[in-house]
Amino acid sequence: MKALFLVGGMGTRLRPLTNKIPKPMVPIMGKPLLERSILNLKNIGINEVVLSTCYRAQHIQKHFGDGQRFGMRIYHVREDIPLGTGGAIKNTEKYFDDTFLIFNSDILSDINLKELVEYHKKKAADVTIAVTQVDNPSMYGVIEYDENDYAVSFREKPQPEEVTSNFVNAGVYVFEPKVLKEIPGGRVVSVEREVFPKLLEKGYKIAVYKGCSYWIDIGTPEKYLQAHMDIMAGKCRISGLDFSDKGVYRGPGSSIHGSVKIQGPVYIGANVKIEENAIIGPNAIIGNNVHVGQGAKIIGSVIWDDVVVESGAKLVNTIVASNCRIKQGCEHYRTVYAEEDSRLMAI
Ligand code: GTP
Repeated sequence: MKALFLVGGMGTRLRPLTNKIPKPMVPIMGKPLLERSILNLKNIGINEVVLSTCYRAQHIQKHFGDGQRFGMRIYHVREDIPLGTGGAIKNTEKYFDDTFLIFNSDILSDINLKELVEYHKKKAADVTIAVTQVDNPSMYGVIEYDENDYAVSFREKPQPEEVTSNFVNAGVYVFEPKVLKEIPGGRVVSVEREVFPKLLEKGYKIAVYKGCSYWIDIGTPEKYLQAHMDIMAGKCRISGLDFSDKGVYRGPGSSIHGSVKIQGPVYIGANVKIEENAIIGPNAIIGNNVHVGQGAKIIGSVIWDDVVVESGAKLVNTIVASNCRIKQGCEHYRTVYAEEDSRLMAI
């Protein structure tokens, strides 16, 4: 079985974090989300993956190459102009001649993919859409379904008064290749707005799978930060990391002065230097090659790679993109901080 990742979106809602890198490459606990998602597939025996790229495609191409370094076969299909989610799927048609998985690449979930595929077969569906329950469905694609769990209607981002179900599209699908012929080629197509409704109209069977217990899309800074807090609270498991005991992870080559106060859960990457009397945590995620000066405080925050936090600076509920320098004594609360741009978060 093969899998397709849609990785070509502009990630505008996640700016300024996506000014230089595409959204699927943002780090989750120090590793690109897309890498984590691709490696998860190995656990269920999938080792062939197609990446449908567009925005900052080079970045993805450079990181994954042909996949050899990850023990996978990875194919890159690059769009010159964004074709939308449906157009991107159509554009990769030649790679798929059997049942396959499709992922939006901004999703962190504990979905059991093996069970999802078995469910798809059991339901004899042409497409299966994983759905998840959310409090505010009007920000998502709402799906209504019948008593046998087959979809009956789709509403993209409905007004609050139009919401009739709080199950929304989780951005994970199983497709039979025969449905690809129903997607028009060579133009922008949305799978959510155009392809799914058309498939229903034409009588294809679309099953909904409700088996996600944890699900978040990291498409805004608020949700990106929330995802990290959820991992640290043990709500979402990340392979190789367990914060259930308020753990403190220290990467290789890190040097932490004996006077530093660390309050778990905390994740510290490789080659990090933390100087006297700094306060780290709870809920601090520090990337690789970061220098934290004397007396600096980092709480409830995610710091990417190659960052300098000068002495006395304070970061609370803040995200700092790679290569930034936080000046001596500066304080940031609820801020998304990138070199060229920064803004307050709505949390
Ligand atoms: P926003 O600009 O913040 O809405 O983000 P986005 O551009 O990523 O859009 P959205 O979150 O709706 O995309 C869902 C998934 O589809 C993400 O994994 C995107 O990378 C991917 N995607 C969206 N549009 C395209 C496209 O035109 N081409 C390809 N290949 N992928 C896309």
